[in-house]
Amino acid sequence: MSEELAPETPEAAEAEPIKQRKNGLYPGISDELAENMKSGWADTELHGLEPIAQASYTAERRAALSARFPGERLVIPAGNLKTRSNDTEYAFRASTEYAYLTGDLTQDSALVLEPAAEGGHEATVYLLPRSDRENGEFWLDGQGELWVGRRNSLIEAEQLLGIPAKDVRELPAALTAATGPVRNVRGHDAGIEAALTDKVTAERDEELRVFLSEARVVKDAFEIAELQKACDATARGFEDVVKVLDKAEATSERYIEGTFFLRARVDGNDIGYGSICAAGPHATTLHWVRNDGAVRSGELLLLDAGVETDELYTADVTRTLPVNGTFSPLQRKIYDAVYEAQEAGIAAVKPGAAFRDFHDAAQRVLAEKLVEWGLLGDLTAEKVLELGLQRRWTLHGTGHMLGMDVHDCAVARTESYVNGTLEPGVCLTVEPGLYFQADDLTVPEEYRGIGVRIEDDILVTEDGNRNLSATLPRRSDEVEAWMARLKG
Ligand code: GLY
Ligand code: MN
Ligand code: MN
Repeated sequence: MSEELAPETPEAAEAEPIKQRKNGLYPGISDELAENMKSGWADTELHGLEPIAQASYTAERRAALSARFPGERLVIPAGNLKTRSNDTEYAFRASTEYAYLTGDLTQDSALVLEPAAEGGHEATVYLLPRSDRENGEFWLDGQGELWVGRRNSLIEAEQLLGIPAKDVRELPAALTAATGPVRNVRGHDAGIEAALTDKVTAERDEELRVFLSEARVVKDAFEIAELQKACDATARGFEDVVKVLDKAEATSERYIEGTFFLRARVDGNDIGYGSICAAGPHATTLHWVRNDGAVRSGELLLLDAGVETDELYTADVTRTLPVNGTFSPLQRKIYDAVYEAQEAGIAAVKPGAAFRDFHDAAQRVLAEKLVEWGLLGDLTAEKVLELGLQRRWTLHGTGHMLGMDVHDCAVARTESYVNGTLEPGVCLTVEPGLYFQADDLTVPEEYRGIGVRIEDDILVTEDGNRNLSATLPRRSDEVEAWMARLKG
């Protein structure tokens, strides 16, 4: 798209990059046009808006944060746009911490919890307001609403979010003037970090980040509903892929990636992570996201993909499918072993269980299978597990927390996560796999280039667990029947 409001002289166009040209009145705009653009616009202010669905939940989350850091000013930035090339940017995705605490998803914003005289904190969300039409920013500034679309007014935002709102352009001065202890979530907004350099320490900021990571281990009712929504949309995306496997065979893995992405954009916000569309031997590369390979009948397709909802909760699901709809005997043998391991893993997900239990249960099954198939000489499964030798083919941990981030709660302390105990509301993936690299000389030739993973999203409930991605079949015969139905 070119600028409608290009300067009149080529020299002026060359002299300044587009963004700067949009900032302020540049040559070629007559006083009459500038005056003309100030008026004649309808008042579109919206009144009496209802709070967003998660407003009561974000209030509770802020209350928990406030209780943990009494008397301290807390700054949680949304983050900024990132340049892709020249004057184009990557699609914006608000920081998980900011979105979790506000429900707002706008760029350059920040939440500030300021200690209140009577105890607790007063929350303020700092946002870019509607564009001023008087000073020309509406149509001449790069962030003007004429260019990027209508924003909420501060009053509208207050009603929607249930948080008092101020102009974000006041924030740097407010932070510079602030006295008393401050903590900031780092890594999202360099401008805010610069304004706070003299007031924060890396160690104290990290404690804030860790708290917000651990706060998200147990999901509230809103989050659980979002995760279910993400899994349901993801299931539709997998069905879409099965229906176009012939087109993928005629083109490449890209057809699968594009098909799933279409579903993610239509039913949600985005994909929650780069889709892994790994056909044939690519399935043995754990994070195969190049997705530029051939899709061949007779081989397996490992599809690991998740839709992220509009509120930024993602699914993380893997199915390994025979491209032609039927597993070969060896593919089935390997697939059924992974399925059995996943069943054992899922059965170990329940309140009171150690986080590590489901991994151990799945690894045991896989070690037993590898021994049974004669791939580990005379060793017993017990010895194999003791030495960890199964890991040549199981490669990765059996699962992780899931939520707004695909690898959620990533900076939670070991005692709260890996060494922790499961409780209702925890959501995690169970995703065992077996991967025989194409160049692995320690396995029979026919195994080489086969990779299988099955991944589901499991919610810990009061009496066990619920598989949020159960809509998609997992058993090999059920996968085949499902594919046959979809392919018609
Ligand atoms: N999709 C990445 C993972 O399964 O952890
Ligand atoms: Mn995963
Ligand atoms: Mn995955």
